[in-house]
Amino acid sequence: MSRIFSGVQPSGNLHLGNYLGAIRNFVGLQEDYECIYCAVDMHAITVWQDPAALRSNTREVAAAYLAAGVDPKRSIIIAQSTVPAHAELAWIFNCVARLGWLNRMTQFKEKAGKNRENASVGLYAYPNLMAADIMVYKATHVPVGEDQKQHLELTRDIAQKFNNDYGAEIFPLVEPLIFGEATRVMSLRDGSKKMSKSDPSDYSRITFTDDRDSIALKLRKARTDADPLPEREEGLKNRPEAANLVGIYAALADLTKQKVLDEFAGAPFSVFKPALTDLAVEKFGPIGEEMKRLMADPAHVDAILHEGAERAEALAAPVLAEVKEVVGF
Ligand code: ADP
Ligand code: NA
Repeated sequence: MSRIFSGVQPSGNLHLGNYLGAIRNFVGLQEDYECIYCAVDMHAITVWQDPAALRSNTREVAAAYLAAGVDPKRSIIIAQSTVPAHAELAWIFNCVARLGWLNRMTQFKEKAGKNRENASVGLYAYPNLMAADIMVYKATHVPVGEDQKQHLELTRDIAQKFNNDYGAEIFPLVEPLIFGEATRVMSLRDGSKKMSKSDPSDYSRITFTDDRDSIALKLRKARTDADPLPEREEGLKNRPEAANLVGIYAALADLTKQKVLDEFAGAPFSVFKPALTDLAVEKFGPIGEEMKRLMADPAHVDAILHEGAERAEALAAPVLAEVKEVVGF
């Protein structure tokens, strides 16, 4: 059977981009795949996390999965650090991946910023851990936003080199699953940057915990140009902020961008933004409400994570045993 692995970092500020680009797709995948959905807390600590906040944010990611409709009876929900096989395989992959491969990762360059010498080694080696997350379950497919495609390519390279080096066909070549409209949601303050948990501006993102008033305020403040919406999608070229808002509308309404423009062509943002607010409150609001409800009962979420860890461990153990055998451990 085809198997999915996907994860979200519990680094706080879970946002609409995480929902539209990742989490909401998790639900439908349960029909056709065996799914493992992870709060990747070991990835999160590649940059400093307050320990108490990390623990709570890990629960919050699990609660967001549940709120979006992931069924813990069918799918496995885990915190990465509770299944040590991820870390064990990651070390082996650290020894398979080449420095030159990691040097090409654009996300490291973005996240490390100007002060590269001061970035953690973990931030640099992060793609090797991601490869281990996926391969420790021999996952065949990973639903990814555009931003993760390069890391998935690296996973394939590592798997292939491991198979070659040890003369054993252990790891499958994982395939990306990319979804329709607005898989890349941009910052509300700057159309050239993706919406992100780590953006210093709270106005850059709509979060799972935002209520109607804050969604309305953030969209009202969202940067745009002064022109009305165009008739055709081509008219959104060179208008990144407008394209982003139309893309978000399209994704929330399950429409193409063109269909959204068919409805709003010629409308100014003073009309479009309130319509987008209503839609976001209708489609995204209830997910956040349910997440908050689940967070009020941490023991329930923890029990689901505990059961997930046991099931995940059972899947990972034979893979790790196979790997250790060929490596010579
Ligand atoms: P972030 O970059 O916000 O820290 P993660 O690295 O934890 O988010 O990514 C979790 C998932 O959410 C990944 O599948 C990623 O592709 C997706 N994702 C993150 N940001 C966005 C965005 N702005 N638009 C679409 N998908 C996103
Ligand atoms: Na990311």
